[in-house]
Amino acid sequence: MTEIVRPLLIFICLFINTIAEPSISNFQECSPKEIVISHGKCSLYVNELIFLSEEYNKEDVPMEAVNNMSRACQSITSCFGGLQCLESQKNKELYQRKCDSVQLKNFEVESCLTRFIKDIYEKNSSCSSKYDFTAKTFQQKREAYTSGKSCFLDFVKNNCSERALSYMKSDYDHFLDILTIPSENGTCTPVQNTLTKIQCEAVMREMQFKMIELSLSRDEHVNQNLSAACQEVADCTRPCSSMDSEGIDKLCGNFELLDDKEFVNCTEKIGTIHKENKEKLSGYKCMSGLDSIETLTKNKDCMKEVMKGECDESALKNFDRNWKILDNALSH
Ligand SMILES: *[C@@H]1O[C@H](CO)[C@@H](O)[C@H](O)[C@H]1NC(C)=O
Ligand SMILES: *[C@@H]1O[C@H](CO)[C@@H](O)[C@H](O)[C@H]1NC(C)=O
Ligand SMILES: *[C@@H]1O[C@H](CO)[C@@H](O)[C@H](O)[C@H]1NC(C)=O
Ligand SMILES: *[C@@H]1O[C@H](CO)[C@@H](O)[C@H](O)[C@H]1NC(C)=O
Ligand SMILES: *[C@@H]1O[C@H](CO)[C@@H](O)[C@H](O)[C@H]1NC(C)=O
Ligand SMILES: *[C@@H]1O[C@H](CO)[C@@H](O)[C@H](O)[C@H]1NC(C)=O
Repeated sequence: MTEIVRPLLIFICLFINTIAEPSISNFQECSPKEIVISHGKCSLYVNELIFLSEEYNKEDVPMEAVNNMSRACQSITSCFGGLQCLESQKNKELYQRKCDSVQLKNFEVESCLTRFIKDIYEKNSSCSSKYDFTAKTFQQKREAYTSGKSCFLDFVKNNCSERALSYMKSDYDHFLDILTIPSENGTCTPVQNTLTKIQCEAVMREMQFKMIELSLSRDEHVNQNLSAACQEVADCTRPCSSMDSEGIDKLCGNFELLDDKEFVNCTEKIGTIHKENKEKLSGYKCMSGLDSIETLTKNKDCMKEVMKGECDESALKNFDRNWKILDNALSH
């Protein structure tokens, strides 16, 4: 990697902290009486949940505590849900999401899903290859987990914990909703972001692996096809459109440039000449007075002229596109 293209390898740290607004339709403000109930009765259950979550916030939460938390969650949502007014409905949604998050962790659903996705990418067994569990849209994914329910549950039975199985047996429909229903504006909830991250880990790992390989490699024939890998990550994360999709697209653009081996090879060559034999570059009129490589990368016409002089014509075939990407990366 030369100093010219190195800035393109910014690391991916997408994910993802947008918190969706609760979807509240036309509820009235709460009356004083409703406020009293929700501050009294409902907060008793909330306190119990808070107490339990603080007491058991590590791995290996005993099943008895998990069940108590589930019970508290149920009481909270039905208590707030029973009051037909705005504040209370907001609270219901808020706690529903907190509870989803706590339960997916405590019932070891997250680690189970991680295993399932890994198995699909590594083995793609006869049953899981029949359904499109890694589909790109919520709708298709919902179809896969609906028609492929018994395939998925078989996997859970054989490869996940007792408690993950018990959650799936009793709450499969709810799990499906969390997994595949976007909230109103297509914004993902935090728990959906977590699940999306789990489902995209395999493709992200693949891409990071390729990036590392590329940045360590001196061999320009190594063909990682980073832009294809990046596109897979973009497709995988797209259902949560709240994610930084502009950032992903820009990143994928960078990889298109890195995949243009002739261009990269040429910038590498110019970088080397600049380091070892600076005078040679002063033969270019436009280079007079430009003594750092950074100045060269700020002058499009000059860059083009030097590349024309030093490299094969093939290095210039995507010059305008590449320049745009490069300029963009270097100016940040
Ligand atoms: C979602 O849409 C509602 C109105 O439909 C809006 O008030 C809210 O701010 C939006 N949330 C986000 C995160 O864009
Ligand atoms: C669970 O709840 C029961 C009944 O309220 C209580 O007796 C028990 O101590 C609780 N267990 C835990 C681990 O919180
Ligand atoms: C699994 O196999 C099916 C068909 O054999 C294929 O369509 C699908 O893309 C594969 N899935 C993954 C994640 O490799
Ligand atoms: C999951 O269970 C199946 C049997 O249904 C087994 O063939 C497979 O190897 C297991 N996968 C993992 C990752 O343990
Ligand atoms: C990289 O992947 C893209 C998209 O799959 C494909 O069009 C392109 O031909 C691949 N390039 C190389 C060099 O393999
Ligand atoms: C890269 O440049 C070297 C000479 O500097 C050349 O031998 C090699 O074939 C080039 N590789 C590509 C992919 O253009």
